[in-house]
Amino acid sequence: MNLTHAHECRCPSGENPYRPWPARITSIRDLTDKEKLFELRLIDPGVREAFNFHSGQFVELSIFGVGEAPVSISSAPSKQGFIELCIRKAGDVTGAMHAKQCGDIVGLRGPFGRGFPFEDMKGHDILLVAGGLGIAPLKSLINHIHDERHEFGKVTILYGSRNPSEVLFRYQFDMWKHRDDFDLILTVDQPDDTWDGETGLVTKLFDRIDVDPDNTFGAVCGPPVMYKYVIDEMRKKEMDVDRIYMSFERRMKCGIGKCGHCGVGHQYTCIDGPVFNYWEAMNLQGAI
Ligand SMILES: Cc1cc2nc3c(=O)[nH]c(=O)nc-3n(C[C@H](O)[C@H](O)[C@H](O)COP(=O)(O)OP(=O)(O)OC[C@H]3O[C@@H](n4cnc5c(N)ncnc54)[C@H](O)[C@@H]3O)c2cc1C
Ligand code: FES
Repeated sequence: MNLTHAHECRCPSGENPYRPWPARITSIRDLTDKEKLFELRLIDPGVREAFNFHSGQFVELSIFGVGEAPVSISSAPSKQGFIELCIRKAGDVTGAMHAKQCGDIVGLRGPFGRGFPFEDMKGHDILLVAGGLGIAPLKSLINHIHDERHEFGKVTILYGSRNPSEVLFRYQFDMWKHRDDFDLILTVDQPDDTWDGETGLVTKLFDRIDVDPDNTFGAVCGPPVMYKYVIDEMRKKEMDVDRIYMSFERRMKCGIGKCGHCGVGHQYTCIDGPVFNYWEAMNLQGAI
């Protein structure tokens, strides 16, 4: 299994990893009441060209005069020249980002961290499980798989939200509903009259799917409470512990393994993660 990309830092900031590079907001899409999707384009052409990333990696987004926050990249690495960030309005930085307009300039550092092992996943079935905002990093992986669909076996996406108005990227998933190259099942805890998908927790959907345990990679991202239950279901399907990957969120500052804010067990989420496999997570105290 190739995890060697773990500590590569393709930081376009070069020698000063704390330097944010200016990026222009080129489009803003309202996804829900709380989340917006921003498309950003690094202004310096050299920096833009050097910005190569893996699905599951994150950037440090700076709003000048306000601060920085880590945000997962939601677009696929196969789409060059811009990145997309799905941002929930949660506090100072994300609130200031929500107040921005198209054409405004923000700062970016990164890409940082270890993403999903896309190359290792090729040739296998893929089971992606997302809860709430956890779809943000998985969206990058989903779209990357889409762009190289012939490299993968069966692809199943299970996505749970609290209610229909909180389903992120609904425009894309509505379009994908009838595709036969993706098994996509959406569920909400609290349905309304408009909802024609499943009802209940995302773990309930495991009754509906067949998994080939010898040939499947899992990718999980969601609220902390979700991981244990999703992994239990994956283990009931006899999936290998080192083929179940999950992305963790921890409070971060520097994003580059210097400040110690994001420690989990003996590792730093910002450089050793945010994506870990279950085997690694089992050996990290307090990870799940
Ligand atoms: C690897 C990674 C990827 C992420 N990806 C995304 C993503 O794709 N999209 C996204 O929207 N978010 C993402 N996040 C989460 C995002 O970084 C946080 O929500 C971040 O705190 C937002 O910064 P802020 O300044 O807007 O909010 P903050 O001002 O930091 O506030 C965030 C929340 O924390 C509370 N809070 C703030 N300070 C304190 C304190 N001292 N004590 C207790 N509570 C406090 C606030 O009340 C608020 O509820 C990611 C985080 C990580 C680590
Ligand atoms: S955020 Fe500073 S060490 Fe991870």
